[in-house]
Amino acid sequence: MMKGKTALVTGASRGIGRAIALALAKEGMNLAVVYAGNAAAAQETVQSICALGVEAKAYACDVADYDAVGALCKQVVADLGPIYALVNNAGITRDRLAAQLRQEDFDAVINVNLKGAFHFIRHTYSGFLRQREGRILNITSVVGLSGNAGQANYAASKAGLIGLTKSVAKELAPRGITVNAIAPGFIDTDMTRQMPQAARDALTARIPLGRLGLAQDVADLAAFLCSERASYITGAVLPVDGGLAM
Ligand code: NAI
Repeated sequence: MMKGKTALVTGASRGIGRAIALALAKEGMNLAVVYAGNAAAAQETVQSICALGVEAKAYACDVADYDAVGALCKQVVADLGPIYALVNNAGITRDRLAAQLRQEDFDAVINVNLKGAFHFIRHTYSGFLRQREGRILNITSVVGLSGNAGQANYAASKAGLIGLTKSVAKELAPRGITVNAIAPGFIDTDMTRQMPQAARDALTARIPLGRLGLAQDVADLAAFLCSERASYITGAVLPVDGGLAM
C-alpha cells in the first residue's frame, strides 16, 4: 500500500514533477517536494498537496550536488519517514547542434539529468535494501530512445538514464523494489513553451494522437507505477507520447 508512505519527487515545483507529486498525494502519500530555485512555486505545490490531507514539505536542493543530495535524503527520512517512492524528474535542456555545443552545456545537462538521478539512487539505496519494498521512477524522454538533432547532450543524458534504470532494476529486483522509466513525448510545460511556435506546430503534426501531452498524462502512469498494482513491472521504459516514438 502506498497510502501513508513517503514519496520524494525532484523538480516538483512545476510541470510534470508537480503533477506527479499531486497524483501521489491523491493516493494518500506524503510528499518531499524537491526544487531548484523557485521557493514560491514549491510552497504553492506544498499547499496544494497539504489541501489533499497528507503531509508535504519543500526542500531546496541542486540535484547535481552529490553531498547536498545525501544531506537532503537524511533530512527527508527524519521529517517524513522512510522513502517508499523516489521519482527522479528534475531535468534541464541546453539545446544546440553538436558542432556548437559548449563543454559546459554538455556537462550541465548530464550533471542534472543523469548524475542527479544517480545521486538520489545512491543515497536512498541502503534504505530501500533495508525496507525490502519501494519504487524508483526515472523520467527519461522519447529522445533518449530516438535521438534528436540539436539535443545531443539531452538525448545522451536520457539514454543514460535508461541504462541506469535497467541496471538498478536488476540489482534491486531480488528485494522486491521496482525501478522503471517513463519516456514522455512532447508535453505542454514551461520546458516546451520555450520552443518557437513554428517548431511546436511541426512537432505536433508528427504526433499520431494529434496533440501535445499534458503533465497529467505522465502523472497518471507515475501513480500507477508507484502503486501495488504495478508490482510485477520492473526495468520497463514506458512511453507516454501520443504514439510519437512508434
Ligand atoms: P520544467 O522545466 O517545467 O520543470 C523541471 C523541474 O526540474 C523544475 O521544477 C526545476 O526547478 C527542476 N530542476 C531543474 N534543474 C534542477 C536542479 N539542478 N536541481 C533540482 N531541481 C532542478 O520541465 P518539465 O517539462 O516538467 O520536465 C520534467 C522532466 O520531464 C524533465 O526531466 C524533462 O527532461 C522530462 N521530459 C519533459 C518533456 C516535455 O515535453 N516537457 C518530454 C520528455 C521528458
